[in-house]
Amino acid sequence: MADTVHPAAAQPSFQVPQHVAIIMDGNGRWAQARGLPRGEGHRRGVEALRRTVRAAGELGVRFLTIFSFSAENWSRPAPEINDLMGLLRLFVRNDLAELHANNVRVRIIGERGDLKPDILRLLDEAEKRTKANTGLTLVVAFNYGARQEIVRAALRMAKAIADGEVQFDAVKVENFARFLDAPDIPDPDLIIRTSGEQRLSNFLLWQSAYSELIFVPTYWPDFDRAALEAAINEYRRRERRFGGVVAKTGS
Ligand code: IPE
Ligand code: IPE
Ligand code: MG
Repeated sequence: MADTVHPAAAQPSFQVPQHVAIIMDGNGRWAQARGLPRGEGHRRGVEALRRTVRAAGELGVRFLTIFSFSAENWSRPAPEINDLMGLLRLFVRNDLAELHANNVRVRIIGERGDLKPDILRLLDEAEKRTKANTGLTLVVAFNYGARQEIVRAALRMAKAIADGEVQFDAVKVENFARFLDAPDIPDPDLIIRTSGEQRLSNFLLWQSAYSELIFVPTYWPDFDRAALEAAINEYRRRERRFGGVVAKTGS
């Protein structure tokens, strides 16, 4: 997506995770530490997101999933929710053209049924406009909860059984993922959570079964290319065994 190819991406030996997922956490604490309103942390968080999308593309990551708003985040005070929705609108309006120009494909996961019509339109537009792009796929987890996604998948599978498209004996682990929100996207190789919290907070519970988890103390607004490279370097030192006895390369 940039004019220059990062030297690391140019070397075939540089093992980059195919799919990186990020729990972008710590906006509020970043702001609080500076005596600023939480909304300022969210605004600076959008800048960190721009940097990270650019860096991920340059480093050769194929899929970048970002946790932007959880199904449980509706429990926050209304002014903060309005701030976050406003930032999403701005992000789509201001950044979609550039993402599209950089060949980024945008995908959305999460529950869409209960979103306001204008937000829904923006998300649909982002997906439709970038549908044919072949560069980095940016998966935006919005109004997303992994347990909710798993229940949605179970319901889709049940419907397929009721319609006679799937047989009962096809209810198997290997057939389930195709009913998830983005069935064609491989599981994340690496999940990064910023802000020092060490939990998944209902993010990609099915898909993270064998993901490498990296927790960094950096608050999300301070995250940058160097932080992403550091996480990828740590990922490269990990040994992924997938239940076996020898290390396998995840991607
Ligand atoms: C992450 O930062 C952004 C969202 C969850 C939308 P937080 O707002 O959770 O920041 P902290 O965790 O309160 O610092
Ligand atoms: C997870 O962060 C959700 C997003 C980053 C969008 P939270 O800040 O909502 O998670 P908890 O509440 O600390 O677990
Ligand atoms: Mg948080």
